[in-house]
Amino acid sequence: MGSEGKGERLPQAKLPEIKFTKLFINGHFVDAVSGKTFDTIDPRTGEAIAKIAEGDKEDIDLAVKAAREAFDKGPWPRMPGSQRGRLMMKFADLIDQNVDELGALEAVDAGKLLFLNKIVDIPFVSGSLRYYAGAADKIHGETLKLNNGLIGHTWREPMGVAGLIIPWNFPSLLLFSCLAPALAAGCTVVVKPAEQTPLTALYFAHLAKLADIPDGVINVVTGFGPTAGAALASHMDVDKISFIGSTEVGRLIMAAAGQSNLKSVTLELGGKSPLIVFDDADVDIAVDLAHKACFFNKGEVCVAGTRILLQEGIYDEFVKKCVAKARAVVVGDPFDPTVTQGPQVDEKQFEKVLSYIEHGKREGATLLTGGKACGDVGYYIEPTIFADVKDDMIIAKEEIFGPVMSLMKFKTIDEAIEKANKTQYGLASGIVTKDINVANTVARSVRAGSVWINCYLAFDPDCPYGGYKMSGFGRNLGLHALDNFLQVKSVVTPVHNSPWL
Ligand code: NAI
Ligand code: MG
Repeated sequence: MGSEGKGERLPQAKLPEIKFTKLFINGHFVDAVSGKTFDTIDPRTGEAIAKIAEGDKEDIDLAVKAAREAFDKGPWPRMPGSQRGRLMMKFADLIDQNVDELGALEAVDAGKLLFLNKIVDIPFVSGSLRYYAGAADKIHGETLKLNNGLIGHTWREPMGVAGLIIPWNFPSLLLFSCLAPALAAGCTVVVKPAEQTPLTALYFAHLAKLADIPDGVINVVTGFGPTAGAALASHMDVDKISFIGSTEVGRLIMAAAGQSNLKSVTLELGGKSPLIVFDDADVDIAVDLAHKACFFNKGEVCVAGTRILLQEGIYDEFVKKCVAKARAVVVGDPFDPTVTQGPQVDEKQFEKVLSYIEHGKREGATLLTGGKACGDVGYYIEPTIFADVKDDMIIAKEEIFGPVMSLMKFKTIDEAIEKANKTQYGLASGIVTKDINVANTVARSVRAGSVWINCYLAFDPDCPYGGYKMSGFGRNLGLHALDNFLQVKSVVTPVHNSPWL
Protein backbone atom coordinates (compact mmCIF):
# COMPACT_ATOMS: atom_id res chain seq x y z
CA MET A 1 0.00 0.00 0.00
CA GLY A 2 1.17 3.50 -0.68
CA SER A 3 0.36 6.43 1.48
CA GLU A 4 -3.29 6.57 0.45
CA GLY A 5 -5.71 5.19 2.98
CA LYS A 6 -4.61 3.16 5.92
CA GLY A 7 -7.71 1.18 6.86
CA GLU A 8 -6.43 -2.32 6.10
CA ARG A 9 -3.20 -1.55 7.95
CA LEU A 10 -4.88 -1.30 11.34
CA PRO A 11 -4.50 -4.75 12.87
CA GLN A 12 -5.64 -3.34 16.24
CA ALA A 13 -2.61 -4.71 18.03
CA LYS A 14 -3.29 -5.69 21.60
CA LEU A 15 -2.72 -2.65 23.79
CA PRO A 16 0.12 -3.03 26.25
CA GLU A 17 -1.05 -3.24 29.83
CA ILE A 18 -0.89 0.20 31.46
CA LYS A 19 0.58 -0.39 34.92
CA PHE A 20 1.58 3.08 36.07
CA THR A 21 -0.77 6.07 35.89
CA LYS A 22 -0.05 8.02 39.08
CA LEU A 23 2.50 10.66 40.00
CA PHE A 24 5.83 9.30 41.30
CA ILE A 25 6.93 11.31 44.33
CA ASN A 26 9.55 10.33 46.89
CA GLY A 27 9.61 6.74 45.68
CA HIS A 28 5.83 6.17 45.67
CA PHE A 29 3.06 6.28 43.11
CA VAL A 30 0.44 8.71 44.41
CA ASP A 31 -2.73 10.42 43.20
CA ALA A 32 -2.72 14.13 42.43
CA VAL A 33 -3.63 16.26 45.47
CA SER A 34 -6.73 17.41 43.60
CA GLY A 35 -7.63 13.82 42.68
CA LYS A 36 -7.93 14.96 39.04
CA THR A 37 -6.93 12.84 36.06
CA PHE A 38 -6.61 13.39 32.32
CA ASP A 39 -6.81 11.01 29.38
CA THR A 40 -3.74 10.08 27.41
CA ILE A 41 -4.79 9.46 23.84
CA ASP A 42 -3.99 6.76 21.30
CA PRO A 43 -3.18 8.70 18.10
CA ARG A 44 -4.19 5.72 15.95
CA THR A 45 -7.80 6.24 16.96
CA GLY A 46 -8.12 9.43 19.00
CA GLU A 47 -9.46 7.32 21.87
CA ALA A 48 -8.29 7.35 25.49
CA ILE A 49 -5.67 4.78 26.53
CA ALA A 50 -5.68 5.46 30.27
CA LYS A 51 -6.50 8.04 32.93
CA ILE A 52 -3.34 9.69 34.22
CA ALA A 53 -2.98 11.68 37.45
CA GLU A 54 -3.15 15.38 36.65
CA GLY A 55 -0.46 17.08 38.71
CA ASP A 56 -0.59 20.82 39.43
CA LYS A 57 1.22 23.32 41.62
CA GLU A 58 0.58 21.44 44.91
CA ASP A 59 2.00 18.24 43.43
CA ILE A 60 5.02 20.07 42.04
CA ASP A 61 5.56 21.50 45.54
CA LEU A 62 5.55 17.99 47.01
CA ALA A 63 7.86 16.64 44.32
CA VAL A 64 10.30 19.54 44.69
CA LYS A 65 10.25 19.08 48.47
CA ALA A 66 11.18 15.39 48.02
CA ALA A 67 13.92 16.24 45.52
CA ARG A 68 15.23 19.04 47.77
CA GLU A 69 15.38 16.73 50.77
CA ALA A 70 17.11 14.03 48.72
CA PHE A 71 19.63 16.59 47.50
CA ASP A 72 20.25 18.43 50.77
CA LYS A 73 20.32 15.43 53.08
CA GLY A 74 20.19 12.22 51.05
CA PRO A 75 22.94 9.90 49.85
CA TRP A 76 22.77 10.58 46.09
CA PRO A 77 25.00 13.68 45.77
CA ARG A 78 27.24 12.45 48.60
CA MET A 79 28.02 8.92 47.44
CA PRO A 80 31.17 8.36 45.35
CA GLY A 81 30.56 8.91 41.64
CA SER A 82 31.48 5.27 41.03
CA GLN A 83 28.55 4.20 43.22
CA ARG A 84 26.13 6.48 41.36
CA GLY A 85 27.52 4.99 38.17
CA ARG A 86 26.84 1.43 39.38
CA LEU A 87 23.23 2.24 40.18
CA MET A 88 22.81 3.92 36.81
CA MET A 89 24.22 0.79 35.12
CA LYS A 90 21.69 -1.31 37.00
CA PHE A 91 18.93 1.06 35.87
CA ALA A 92 20.17 0.68 32.27
CA ASP A 93 20.10 -3.13 32.51
CA LEU A 94 16.50 -3.05 33.76
CA ILE A 95 15.53 -0.79 30.87
CA ASP A 96 17.03 -3.26 28.39
CA GLN A 97 15.18 -6.12 30.06
CA ASN A 98 11.89 -4.26 29.62
CA VAL A 99 12.47 -3.04 26.07
CA ASP A 100 9.37 -4.76 24.66
CA GLU A 101 7.00 -3.15 27.11
CA LEU A 102 8.65 0.27 26.93
CA GLY A 103 8.65 0.13 23.13
CA ALA A 104 4.97 -0.73 23.07
CA LEU A 105 4.04 2.07 25.50
CA GLU A 106 5.92 4.55 23.34
CA ALA A 107 4.14 3.24 20.23
CA VAL A 108 0.64 3.52 21.66
CA ASP A 109 1.18 6.88 23.36
CA ALA A 110 3.18 8.71 20.71
CA GLY A 111 2.37 6.81 17.49
CA LYS A 112 6.04 5.90 17.06
CA LEU A 113 7.00 2.75 15.16
CA LEU A 114 7.29 -0.18 17.57
CA PHE A 115 10.23 -1.83 15.87
CA LEU A 116 12.26 1.40 15.90
CA ASN A 117 11.41 2.07 19.54
CA LYS A 118 12.90 -1.32 20.29
CA ILE A 119 16.09 -0.96 18.26
CA VAL A 120 16.67 2.81 18.38
CA ASP A 121 14.90 4.78 21.11
CA ILE A 122 15.04 2.45 24.11
CA PRO A 123 18.61 1.20 23.42
CA PHE A 124 19.67 4.84 23.08
CA VAL A 125 18.21 5.46 26.53
CA SER A 126 20.15 2.62 28.18
CA GLY A 127 23.23 3.57 26.16
CA SER A 128 23.03 7.18 27.40
CA LEU A 129 22.67 6.01 30.98
CA ARG A 130 25.78 3.84 30.63
CA TYR A 131 27.71 6.64 28.93
CA TYR A 132 27.03 9.06 31.78
CA ALA A 133 27.40 6.30 34.40
CA GLY A 134 30.97 5.96 33.15
CA ALA A 135 31.47 9.70 33.55
CA ALA A 136 30.05 9.93 37.08
CA ASP A 137 33.43 9.24 38.72
CA LYS A 138 35.41 11.41 36.30
CA ILE A 139 34.01 14.84 37.10
CA HIS A 140 37.16 16.84 37.68
CA GLY A 141 38.04 20.41 38.54
CA GLU A 142 41.24 22.28 37.80
CA THR A 143 44.25 23.30 39.81
CA LEU A 144 44.96 27.03 39.77
CA LYS A 145 48.33 28.67 40.06
CA LEU A 146 47.58 32.09 41.46
CA ASN A 147 49.49 35.28 42.22
CA ASN A 148 50.36 36.63 45.69
CA GLY A 149 51.26 33.30 47.27
CA LEU A 150 47.87 31.77 46.71
CA ILE A 151 46.98 28.38 45.34
CA GLY A 152 43.57 27.18 44.39
CA HIS A 153 41.50 24.51 42.78
CA THR A 154 37.98 24.19 41.46
CA TRP A 155 35.30 21.69 42.28
CA ARG A 156 32.47 20.91 39.91
CA GLU A 157 29.50 20.41 42.19
CA PRO A 158 25.98 19.27 41.34
CA MET A 159 23.65 22.18 40.74
CA GLY A 160 20.92 20.86 43.04
CA VAL A 161 17.30 20.14 42.17
CA ALA A 162 16.75 20.03 38.40
CA GLY A 163 13.37 20.33 36.67
CA LEU A 164 13.24 18.45 33.37
CA ILE A 165 10.41 19.53 31.05
CA ILE A 166 10.19 17.07 28.20
CA PRO A 167 8.28 16.98 24.88
CA TRP A 168 6.35 14.14 23.23
CA ASN A 169 8.26 13.42 20.02
CA PHE A 170 10.96 11.25 21.64
CA PRO A 171 9.49 10.88 25.11
CA SER A 172 12.13 8.41 26.33
CA LEU A 173 15.21 9.44 24.40
CA LEU A 174 14.88 13.15 25.13
CA LEU A 175 14.05 12.50 28.78
CA PHE A 176 17.32 10.60 29.21
CA SER A 177 19.33 13.17 27.26
CA CYS A 178 18.64 15.35 30.33
CA LEU A 179 18.10 12.78 33.08
CA ALA A 180 21.28 10.73 32.54
CA PRO A 181 23.74 13.66 32.88
CA ALA A 182 21.70 15.11 35.76
CA LEU A 183 21.98 11.82 37.66
CA ALA A 184 25.70 11.45 36.92
CA ALA A 185 26.30 14.99 38.16
CA GLY A 186 24.58 14.14 41.46
CA CYS A 187 21.45 16.24 40.99
CA THR A 188 17.98 15.16 42.03
CA VAL A 189 15.15 15.77 39.57
CA VAL A 190 11.50 16.50 39.04
CA VAL A 191 10.40 15.36 35.57
CA LYS A 192 7.39 16.88 33.83
CA PRO A 193 6.71 14.67 30.80
CA ALA A 194 4.55 15.95 27.96
CA GLU A 195 0.81 15.54 28.58
CA GLN A 196 0.56 13.68 25.25
CA THR A 197 3.05 10.98 26.31
CA PRO A 198 3.22 10.33 30.07
CA LEU A 199 3.40 6.52 30.01
CA THR A 200 7.10 5.72 29.57
CA ALA A 201 8.34 8.29 32.12
CA LEU A 202 6.20 6.63 34.82
CA TYR A 203 7.48 3.20 33.82
CA PHE A 204 11.08 4.47 34.03
CA ALA A 205 10.36 5.78 37.54
CA HIS A 206 9.27 2.27 38.56
CA LEU A 207 12.49 0.81 37.09
CA ALA A 208 14.62 3.42 38.88
CA LYS A 209 13.13 2.24 42.16
CA LEU A 210 13.92 -1.40 41.29
CA ALA A 211 17.49 -0.26 40.50
CA ASP A 212 17.80 1.07 44.08
CA ILE A 213 18.09 4.69 43.05
CA PRO A 214 17.18 6.33 46.37
CA ASP A 215 13.68 7.73 46.92
CA GLY A 216 13.36 11.41 46.06
CA VAL A 217 16.15 11.37 43.46
CA ILE A 218 13.74 10.93 40.52
CA ASN A 219 10.21 12.32 40.82
CA VAL A 220 7.70 12.41 37.97
CA VAL A 221 4.75 14.79 37.89
CA THR A 222 2.45 14.19 34.95
CA GLY A 223 0.14 17.03 33.95
CA PHE A 224 -0.16 20.03 31.67
CA GLY A 225 2.34 22.70 30.71
CA PRO A 226 0.64 25.90 31.89
CA THR A 227 -0.10 24.32 35.31
CA ALA A 228 2.45 21.67 36.38
CA GLY A 229 5.15 22.81 33.93
CA ALA A 230 4.83 26.49 34.81
CA ALA A 231 4.87 25.71 38.56
CA LEU A 232 8.15 23.83 38.11
CA ALA A 233 9.73 26.58 36.02
CA SER A 234 8.88 29.28 38.56
CA HIS A 235 9.61 27.26 41.72
CA MET A 236 11.93 29.02 44.18
CA ASP A 237 13.53 25.75 45.29
CA VAL A 238 14.43 24.46 41.82
CA ASP A 239 18.01 25.28 40.80
CA LYS A 240 17.92 24.30 37.16
CA ILE A 241 15.44 23.83 34.32
CA SER A 242 16.33 21.77 31.29
CA PHE A 243 13.61 22.29 28.70
CA ILE A 244 13.04 20.72 25.27
CA GLY A 245 10.07 21.93 23.23
CA SER A 246 8.70 24.94 21.39
CA THR A 247 10.38 28.34 21.12
CA GLU A 248 7.22 29.93 22.46
CA VAL A 249 7.35 27.94 25.72
CA GLY A 250 11.14 28.37 25.87
CA ARG A 251 10.52 32.11 26.24
CA LEU A 252 8.04 31.47 29.07
CA ILE A 253 10.56 29.25 30.86
CA MET A 254 13.23 31.95 30.72
CA ALA A 255 10.77 34.57 31.91
CA ALA A 256 9.68 32.32 34.79
CA ALA A 257 13.33 31.77 35.78
CA GLY A 258 13.94 35.51 35.63
CA GLN A 259 10.92 36.34 37.71
CA SER A 260 11.59 33.67 40.37
CA ASN A 261 15.02 32.65 41.65
CA LEU A 262 17.14 33.22 38.51
CA LYS A 263 17.59 29.50 38.13
CA SER A 264 19.91 28.24 35.42
CA VAL A 265 18.15 27.32 32.17
CA THR A 266 19.06 25.13 29.20
CA LEU A 267 16.77 25.28 26.14
CA GLU A 268 16.52 23.03 23.09
CA LEU A 269 13.85 24.49 20.83
CA GLY A 270 13.69 22.85 17.45
CA GLY A 271 14.46 24.37 14.10
CA LYS A 272 14.11 24.60 10.37
CA SER A 273 17.23 22.78 9.34
CA PRO A 274 18.68 22.78 5.81
CA LEU A 275 20.05 19.76 3.95
CA ILE A 276 22.27 20.99 1.11
CA VAL A 277 22.77 18.65 -1.84
CA PHE A 278 25.52 19.47 -4.36
CA ASP A 279 25.66 18.41 -8.00
CA ASP A 280 28.43 15.88 -7.42
CA ALA A 281 26.45 13.89 -4.84
CA ASP A 282 25.33 10.32 -5.50
CA VAL A 283 21.69 10.99 -6.16
CA ASP A 284 20.40 7.82 -4.51
CA ILE A 285 22.35 8.49 -1.34
CA ALA A 286 21.16 12.10 -1.34
CA VAL A 287 17.52 11.05 -1.76
CA ASP A 288 17.83 8.52 1.08
CA LEU A 289 19.34 11.13 3.36
CA ALA A 290 16.74 13.77 2.52
CA HIS A 291 13.94 11.27 3.04
CA LYS A 292 15.28 10.26 6.43
CA ALA A 293 16.07 13.86 7.40
CA CYS A 294 12.53 15.00 6.75
CA PHE A 295 10.19 12.03 7.22
CA PHE A 296 11.81 10.09 10.07
CA ASN A 297 9.43 9.80 13.04
CA LYS A 298 6.65 11.34 10.84
CA GLY A 299 8.60 14.59 10.76
CA GLU A 300 8.26 15.08 14.52
CA VAL A 301 11.98 15.65 14.95
CA CYS A 302 13.58 18.82 16.33
CA VAL A 303 16.60 18.46 14.02
CA ALA A 304 14.49 17.44 10.98
CA GLY A 305 16.01 18.54 7.67
CA THR A 306 12.95 20.16 6.15
CA ARG A 307 14.52 22.64 3.74
CA ILE A 308 16.18 20.58 1.04
CA LEU A 309 18.48 22.88 -0.95
CA LEU A 310 19.37 21.34 -4.32
CA GLN A 311 22.04 22.49 -6.75
CA GLU A 312 20.64 23.01 -10.25
CA GLY A 313 22.40 20.08 -11.92
CA ILE A 314 21.01 17.39 -9.64
CA TYR A 315 17.57 18.92 -9.21
CA ASP A 316 15.46 17.04 -11.77
CA GLU A 317 16.70 13.54 -11.05
CA PHE A 318 16.60 14.13 -7.32
CA VAL A 319 13.02 15.35 -7.41
CA LYS A 320 11.82 12.37 -9.44
CA LYS A 321 13.42 9.83 -7.09
CA CYS A 322 12.51 11.71 -3.94
CA VAL A 323 8.83 11.83 -4.88
CA ALA A 324 8.85 8.12 -5.72
CA LYS A 325 10.37 7.34 -2.34
CA ALA A 326 7.79 9.44 -0.49
CA ARG A 327 4.99 7.67 -2.39
CA ALA A 328 6.36 4.30 -1.27
CA VAL A 329 5.97 5.19 2.41
CA VAL A 330 3.49 2.92 4.17
CA VAL A 331 1.41 5.03 6.54
CA GLY A 332 -0.42 3.09 9.22
CA ASP A 333 -0.45 1.39 12.59
CA PRO A 334 2.95 1.79 14.29
CA PHE A 335 2.64 -1.75 15.70
CA ASP A 336 2.62 -3.22 12.17
CA PRO A 337 6.22 -4.03 11.15
CA THR A 338 5.52 -3.31 7.47
CA VAL A 339 4.42 0.26 8.24
CA THR A 340 7.02 3.02 7.86
CA GLN A 341 5.10 6.04 9.16
CA GLY A 342 2.72 6.23 12.12
CA PRO A 343 0.17 8.89 13.09
CA GLN A 344 1.03 12.42 14.26
CA VAL A 345 0.99 12.63 18.03
CA ASP A 346 -2.38 14.32 18.57
CA GLU A 347 -5.19 16.23 17.00
CA LYS A 348 -3.59 19.60 17.64
CA GLN A 349 -0.40 18.65 15.80
CA PHE A 350 -2.39 16.93 13.04
CA GLU A 351 -4.44 20.07 12.44
CA LYS A 352 -1.35 22.25 12.65
CA VAL A 353 0.54 20.24 10.02
CA LEU A 354 -2.48 20.22 7.68
CA SER A 355 -2.83 23.97 8.05
CA TYR A 356 0.82 24.44 7.05
CA ILE A 357 0.17 22.30 3.99
CA GLU A 358 -2.72 24.65 3.10
CA HIS A 359 -0.39 27.65 3.56
CA GLY A 360 2.06 26.03 1.14
CA LYS A 361 -0.63 25.57 -1.50
CA ARG A 362 -1.98 29.11 -1.01
CA GLU A 363 1.43 30.75 -1.18
CA GLY A 364 2.12 29.17 -4.55
CA ALA A 365 4.52 26.32 -3.79
CA THR A 366 4.08 23.35 -6.14
CA LEU A 367 2.63 20.30 -4.41
CA LEU A 368 4.41 17.24 -5.85
CA THR A 369 2.95 14.53 -3.67
CA GLY A 370 0.84 14.06 -0.54
CA GLY A 371 -0.93 17.10 0.81
CA LYS A 372 -3.73 15.60 2.85
CA ALA A 373 -4.72 13.36 5.73
CA CYS A 374 -4.92 9.60 5.17
CA GLY A 375 -8.03 7.75 6.21
CA ASP A 376 -10.66 9.20 8.48
CA VAL A 377 -9.66 7.68 11.82
CA GLY A 378 -6.61 8.79 13.79
CA TYR A 379 -4.04 11.42 12.94
CA TYR A 380 -2.34 10.13 9.79
CA ILE A 381 -0.88 12.47 7.16
CA GLU A 382 0.57 11.65 3.76
CA PRO A 383 4.28 12.37 3.24
CA THR A 384 4.15 15.70 1.45
CA ILE A 385 6.66 17.39 -0.85
CA PHE A 386 6.52 20.96 -2.10
CA ALA A 387 8.78 22.30 -4.87
CA ASP A 388 9.43 25.94 -5.88
CA VAL A 389 9.48 26.97 -2.24
CA LYS A 390 10.70 30.55 -1.70
CA ASP A 391 12.67 31.66 1.38
CA ASP A 392 9.91 33.97 2.55
CA MET A 393 7.06 31.46 2.40
CA ILE A 394 5.60 30.38 5.74
CA ILE A 395 6.46 26.73 5.03
CA ALA A 396 10.11 27.73 4.53
CA LYS A 397 10.28 29.74 7.75
CA GLU A 398 8.25 28.01 10.44
CA GLU A 399 8.78 24.65 12.11
CA ILE A 400 6.02 22.36 10.78
CA PHE A 401 6.88 19.26 12.83
CA GLY A 402 5.23 16.90 10.38
CA PRO A 403 5.99 15.00 7.17
CA VAL A 404 6.34 18.05 4.93
CA MET A 405 9.41 18.65 2.76
CA SER A 406 10.30 21.89 0.98
CA LEU A 407 12.55 21.76 -2.10
CA MET A 408 14.56 24.80 -3.13
CA LYS A 409 17.12 25.34 -5.89
CA PHE A 410 20.54 27.07 -5.76
CA LYS A 411 23.45 27.70 -8.13
CA THR A 412 26.62 28.47 -6.15
CA ILE A 413 28.14 27.52 -2.79
CA ASP A 414 27.72 31.09 -1.56
CA GLU A 415 24.06 31.04 -2.45
CA ALA A 416 23.63 27.69 -0.65
CA ILE A 417 25.23 29.08 2.50
CA GLU A 418 23.12 32.22 2.36
CA LYS A 419 19.91 30.23 1.98
CA ALA A 420 20.93 27.72 4.67
CA ASN A 421 21.40 30.54 7.17
CA LYS A 422 18.23 32.40 6.18
CA THR A 423 16.33 31.23 9.25
CA GLN A 424 15.77 32.33 12.81
CA TYR A 425 16.77 28.82 13.90
CA GLY A 426 20.14 27.07 14.03
CA LEU A 427 19.80 23.56 15.35
CA ALA A 428 21.14 21.27 12.62
CA SER A 429 22.22 21.08 8.99
CA GLY A 430 23.31 18.51 6.44
CA ILE A 431 25.68 18.54 3.47
CA VAL A 432 25.78 15.95 0.69
CA THR A 433 28.84 16.14 -1.55
CA LYS A 434 31.97 14.17 -2.45
CA ASP A 435 34.09 17.33 -2.41
CA ILE A 436 35.83 17.71 0.96
CA ASN A 437 36.56 21.40 0.33
CA VAL A 438 32.93 22.16 -0.36
CA ALA A 439 31.90 20.18 2.73
CA ASN A 440 34.40 21.99 4.97
CA THR A 441 33.54 25.41 3.60
CA VAL A 442 29.84 24.94 4.20
CA ALA A 443 30.38 23.29 7.60
CA ARG A 444 32.39 26.34 8.71
CA SER A 445 29.81 28.83 7.46
CA VAL A 446 26.56 27.30 8.52
CA ARG A 447 25.25 28.68 11.82
CA ALA A 448 23.88 25.55 13.44
CA GLY A 449 24.81 23.31 16.37
CA SER A 450 25.11 20.11 14.30
CA VAL A 451 26.54 19.60 10.83
CA TRP A 452 26.09 16.16 9.29
CA ILE A 453 28.25 15.56 6.21
CA ASN A 454 27.00 12.68 4.03
CA CYS A 455 24.80 11.46 6.88
CA TYR A 456 21.86 12.84 8.85
CA LEU A 457 20.39 12.27 12.33
CA ALA A 458 23.72 10.65 13.21
CA PHE A 459 23.25 10.77 16.98
CA ASP A 460 25.51 9.29 19.59
CA PRO A 461 25.59 9.80 23.37
CA ASP A 462 29.12 11.21 22.93
CA CYS A 463 28.09 13.83 20.37
CA PRO A 464 26.72 17.12 21.74
CA TYR A 465 23.81 18.78 19.99
CA GLY A 466 21.92 22.00 20.59
CA GLY A 467 21.02 25.32 19.11
CA TYR A 468 22.46 28.47 17.66
CA LYS A 469 20.12 31.47 17.41
CA MET A 470 16.50 30.80 18.37
CA SER A 471 16.98 27.04 18.60
CA GLY A 472 18.09 27.61 22.19
CA PHE A 473 21.35 27.36 24.09
CA GLY A 474 23.36 24.79 26.00
CA ARG A 475 24.16 21.35 24.63
CA ASN A 476 22.50 18.03 25.31
CA LEU A 477 24.45 14.76 25.05
CA GLY A 478 28.22 14.50 25.09
CA LEU A 479 30.31 15.37 28.13
CA HIS A 480 29.23 19.01 27.66
CA ALA A 481 25.79 18.09 28.96
CA LEU A 482 27.24 17.39 32.40
CA ASP A 483 27.96 21.11 32.64
CA ASN A 484 24.21 21.79 32.48
CA PHE A 485 23.94 20.17 35.90
CA LEU A 486 27.19 21.27 37.53
CA GLN A 487 28.54 24.49 38.90
CA VAL A 488 32.07 25.53 39.57
CA LYS A 489 33.31 26.36 43.04
CA SER A 490 36.82 27.78 43.45
CA VAL A 491 38.73 27.14 46.65
CA VAL A 492 41.72 29.39 47.36
CA THR A 493 44.28 29.24 50.12
CA PRO A 494 47.62 30.99 50.89
CA VAL A 495 50.78 28.91 51.00
CA HIS A 496 53.89 29.24 53.15
CA ASN A 497 55.45 32.75 53.01
CA SER A 498 52.40 34.20 51.33
CA PRO A 499 51.76 37.91 52.06
CA TRP A 500 48.31 36.74 53.23
CA LEU A 501 49.78 34.90 56.20
P1 NAI B 1 5.36 22.66 24.08
O1 NAI B 1 6.60 23.47 24.05
O2 NAI B 1 4.09 23.28 24.56
O3 NAI B 1 5.59 21.34 24.99
C1 NAI B 1 6.81 20.87 25.47
C2 NAI B 1 6.74 20.65 26.98
O4 NAI B 1 6.57 21.91 27.62
C3 NAI B 1 5.56 19.79 27.45
O5 NAI B 1 5.98 18.99 28.54
C4 NAI B 1 4.56 20.84 27.93
O6 NAI B 1 3.67 20.34 28.90
C5 NAI B 1 5.48 21.87 28.54
N1 NAI B 1 4.91 23.20 28.66
C6 NAI B 1 3.95 23.79 27.88
N2 NAI B 1 3.65 25.02 28.33
C7 NAI B 1 4.43 25.23 29.42
C8 NAI B 1 4.59 26.33 30.33
N3 NAI B 1 3.89 27.45 30.21
N4 NAI B 1 5.50 26.21 31.32
C9 NAI B 1 6.24 25.09 31.46
N5 NAI B 1 6.11 24.03 30.65
C10 NAI B 1 5.23 24.08 29.64
O7 NAI B 1 5.15 22.09 22.64
P2 NAI B 1 3.79 21.59 21.93
O8 NAI B 1 2.70 22.59 22.08
O9 NAI B 1 3.50 20.24 22.41
O10 NAI B 1 4.26 21.58 20.40
C11 NAI B 1 4.22 22.79 19.66
C12 NAI B 1 5.37 22.87 18.69
O11 NAI B 1 6.59 22.90 19.41
C13 NAI B 1 5.52 21.69 17.77
O12 NAI B 1 4.68 21.79 16.67
C14 NAI B 1 6.96 21.81 17.40
O13 NAI B 1 7.12 22.75 16.37
C15 NAI B 1 7.63 22.33 18.65
N6 NAI B 1 8.25 21.24 19.42
C16 NAI B 1 9.60 21.10 19.39
C17 NAI B 1 10.19 20.05 20.03
C18 NAI B 1 11.66 19.84 20.01
O14 NAI B 1 12.12 18.71 20.05
N7 NAI B 1 12.47 20.86 20.02
C19 NAI B 1 9.42 19.04 20.74
C20 NAI B 1 8.00 19.30 20.77
C21 NAI B 1 7.46 20.37 20.12
MG1 MG C 1 -0.79 9.93 23.93
